[in-house]
Amino acid sequence: MKGLILSGGTGTRLRPITYTSAKQLVPVANKPILFYAIEAIRDANITDIGIIIGDTGEEVKLAVGDGSKWGVNITYIPQEAPLGLAHAVKIAHDFIKDDDFVMYLGDNLIKDGINGLVEEFKQTNCNCQILLSHVKEPQHFGVAELSDGKVVCLVEKPKEPKSDLALVGVYMFDKSIFEAVNVIKPSRRNELEITDAIQYLIDKRYVVHPHIIDGWWKDTGRLEDLLEANRIMLKLIERRIDGDVDDISQVLGKVVVEEGAVIKESTIRGPAIIGHSTKIINSYIGPFTSVHDSVLIKSSEIEHSIILADCVINDIGSRMEDTLLGRNVKVYRSNTKPKAYRLMVGDNSEIEVI
Ligand code: DAU
Repeated sequence: MKGLILSGGTGTRLRPITYTSAKQLVPVANKPILFYAIEAIRDANITDIGIIIGDTGEEVKLAVGDGSKWGVNITYIPQEAPLGLAHAVKIAHDFIKDDDFVMYLGDNLIKDGINGLVEEFKQTNCNCQILLSHVKEPQHFGVAELSDGKVVCLVEKPKEPKSDLALVGVYMFDKSIFEAVNVIKPSRRNELEITDAIQYLIDKRYVVHPHIIDGWWKDTGRLEDLLEANRIMLKLIERRIDGDVDDISQVLGKVVVEEGAVIKESTIRGPAIIGHSTKIINSYIGPFTSVHDSVLIKSSEIEHSIILADCVINDIGSRMEDTLLGRNVKVYRSNTKPKAYRLMVGDNSEIEVI
């Protein structure tokens, strides 16, 4: 069996972060979302993994390399444009050949891994296994309609969903999917939809097996989902202090302080992670905060946030919460007169002031 991870596309809902970076590389608990997908597939004993890449391909290649750090072989499959999930399957045919495969959307996170699901796919001997999850806003997803436990209909982002069962971004296929992706036509948004390809399998009486998952799953496309993913993943970390913590500081609960990090006159209340070479001085880092590498946080309070590498946060006056800061962002108090907010902010940013 092979793995296929989709890491092309554009991340419109996470702009401005995704103007300069692949959405699949945004870190959750200081680890790129994409790495969780690679680990989940590796843990299911699949070592041949293809990764679909688009405009951000070079960045993805740089981060992932040849896969040796996970003990897997990575093959990169460039996609000329984000022409749809079924298009990605189509161009992966040379890599997959006639093997069974698991397709994993590179911006999805499943807490409990996919081991059992891959086993179930093998045992049921079906042509396709889809994962479904009850969600509050099914109109944002592919939606499945079941009857007597069988899938009868799949619709991509329907205005009036027939159920609350969303398609999770992990699918298992045998070679019949290649017949489907070669027959279906582009949708109204001009994409070859994987939902249409699976509907084709259903119509042609191939066996499509639905598995309703009850564990936690997230499509990390929006800020609130990313913060929730960060919360869930931070709860799973084990306490580890490899950096320097001075005697005055308090590091409470599940906290990782990476090597080279310095904590001075501060309180870190876990779950939280502090990256390599980051300095926390006279500050409070509250629960569910991930601070990436080489960040400086001084005389400030931060909680429930994701701070990417090389940021500086200095003496900001009020507590920062529910925040995602991109790389190399500076937020600091200024004594320049006249007293005013002075901002240099990219397109599609959002700033809440008090
Ligand atoms: O997250 C689950 C949902 O994922 C499903 O419920 C939907 O049925 C499915 O269509 C998909 O919807 P999204 O709108 O969330 O898909 P998105 O465009 O975000 O693409 C998902 C991943 O695949 C993302 O990592 C980008 C990548 N991708 C996407 C397209 C369209 C590619 O690599 N190539 C592409 O052509």
